[in-house]
Amino acid sequence: MSQPITVKLLKDKKQKGEKFTVLTAYDATLASLCEKAGVDVILVGDSLGMVIQGHETTVPVTMDDIIYHARAVARSTKNVVKMLDMPFMSFSYPTQAIDNAARLMQEGYAEVIKLESGAHQEQLIRDLSINGVPVCAHLGLTPQTIHKLGSYGKRGKDSQEAQQILSDAEQLEKAGADLILLECVPPVLAKKVTDTVSVPVIGIGAGRDVDAQVLVIYDILGASGYIPSFAKNFLAESDSIEGAIRHYVESVKNGSFPV
Ligand code: KIV
Repeated sequence: MSQPITVKLLKDKKQKGEKFTVLTAYDATLASLCEKAGVDVILVGDSLGMVIQGHETTVPVTMDDIIYHARAVARSTKNVVKMLDMPFMSFSYPTQAIDNAARLMQEGYAEVIKLESGAHQEQLIRDLSINGVPVCAHLGLTPQTIHKLGSYGKRGKDSQEAQQILSDAEQLEKAGADLILLECVPPVLAKKVTDTVSVPVIGIGAGRDVDAQVLVIYDILGASGYIPSFAKNFLAESDSIEGAIRHYVESVKNGSFPV
């Protein structure tokens, strides 16, 4: 019987310098293959709005959408941490955020909830943490704010923004965040954050010097129409979907991905 994968285990892995893997999945079949292939955390991300529903952004995704897909994932998996996204505007004031976090845990079987964050969410993260909700604070590129940002470009490129991301990570860890996710930031900044906070840092487009990697499953299967520069088509070097996921897991763990 393999060791139960829990948020505590992920924290222990950071202490031991062992990398872990996160992959999105939104349905029972692919979630089950992720588990078989050794993925530690399945993210039911709001990226489903783009890759499943065909929207141009993640903004239209609703709480009901996340819960629907998360329940399918939960039905087919046993030993994998399930992380669910709080969708756009589902956590904009305290009572709404707490009620929706409760829904993700009770109806969607979340073991961690992820929210696109900043220091302004310090109190919310404290409240969730006190109430027993494990939280992943998503910093750097936050796609739900695309209509304010104007592009999906890298964040933290200038020293002021880099310092802000680092101090947000420190502040949110103190408030109780259990995991930090950094999207599209310079590798040197991701390394600094990873060395500074004691909770695990998951990176996407953030280089290799982080504690874990996350990718969108359709990107590693070469099925998204295009492959972002920070991803790789692992199916091209494998003979099955399960093999491709296993290849991703092994490549992250042995440090050969990302290059
Ligand atoms: O929604 C999602 O899949 C995400 C990842 C790309 C990090 O937030």
